[in-house]
Amino acid sequence: MATPLRLLSKSEIAQGIHRFVLARADGGELPEFTAGAHVEVTAPNGLARKYSLCNDPAERHRYEIAVKREEGGAGGSKSVCDDVAEGGELIVSAPRNDFPLANNISNFLFIAGGIGVTPILSMARHLNALGTARYKLHYLTRAPETTAFREELKTPAFNGKVSIHHDGGDPDEALDLWPLLEKPMGRHLYCCGPRPLMEAVRDMSGHWSSAAVHFEDFGASKPAEKANDVAFNVTLAKSGRTIEVPASVPILDALRANGLAVSSSCESGTCGTCKTKLISGDVDHRDLVLAGHEKADNIMICVSRAARGDLVLDL
Ligand code: FES
Repeated sequence: MATPLRLLSKSEIAQGIHRFVLARADGGELPEFTAGAHVEVTAPNGLARKYSLCNDPAERHRYEIAVKREEGGAGGSKSVCDDVAEGGELIVSAPRNDFPLANNISNFLFIAGGIGVTPILSMARHLNALGTARYKLHYLTRAPETTAFREELKTPAFNGKVSIHHDGGDPDEALDLWPLLEKPMGRHLYCCGPRPLMEAVRDMSGHWSSAAVHFEDFGASKPAEKANDVAFNVTLAKSGRTIEVPASVPILDALRANGLAVSSSCESGTCGTCKTKLISGDVDHRDLVLAGHEKADNIMICVSRAARGDLVLDL
């Protein structure tokens, strides 16, 4: 349930990136969360945005988030950054975790791009506190001044566990990911960042167990609509209904518009919630969830579409 929380502090920790610390006005405990969780924050202008909690989940009296002020966005992040002062309030949902840290794993590989470091920072802080598992964080940003939490990541707690790479905005200077991904070595891989980074990591980790590879992006970088996207029909095998999916509408939204209750969370093809059995049809898979062997029989209906013709789903 969403509740108003007090903004204890707000500071710009990198160019255009603001750190917020939120707590209950009475100082009481907040709903528990686990590393990788996010909350939905309602900006003063009414727009809702999801932000990862980046503090250690052991902290029960505060939530820490980092917000990138998007100049070109719809205005949600600008309103969060500009329209609330320290001592003011933001409406914050209960935490939810679509990107949980796997249990009983002793070695993790984290790849974060830009503001995608936030859920991974919570994981790193949690693992630092536990001291029972190893990890290495590769944090990719444009330049030192756009690197959130840079000073903290240089402190002794992160010694030898973090490598920060700046590309200066030049694709030719991007980190070569293959040496990191070539040998899985029993590790679990967590990646959060811009869509092209996640797609590159997915493409280079096809030989990893699908259960060991995890992505998160909150829909901030949905796979782009393709210029040649066309309308198609989806037939629901259980009811026999046929629903038209317009060219610029995801299957998920078309089903909901026709009164179907369909589960979803990220709506960006990363969490796995909307996985649906495919009975027939040719799919253009645009998610980061399905392993190669799952693609013939499944579809993530929040992002994927018919490659040609129509689809029959087990709904
Ligand atoms: S809702 Fe998360 S993959 Fe579709």
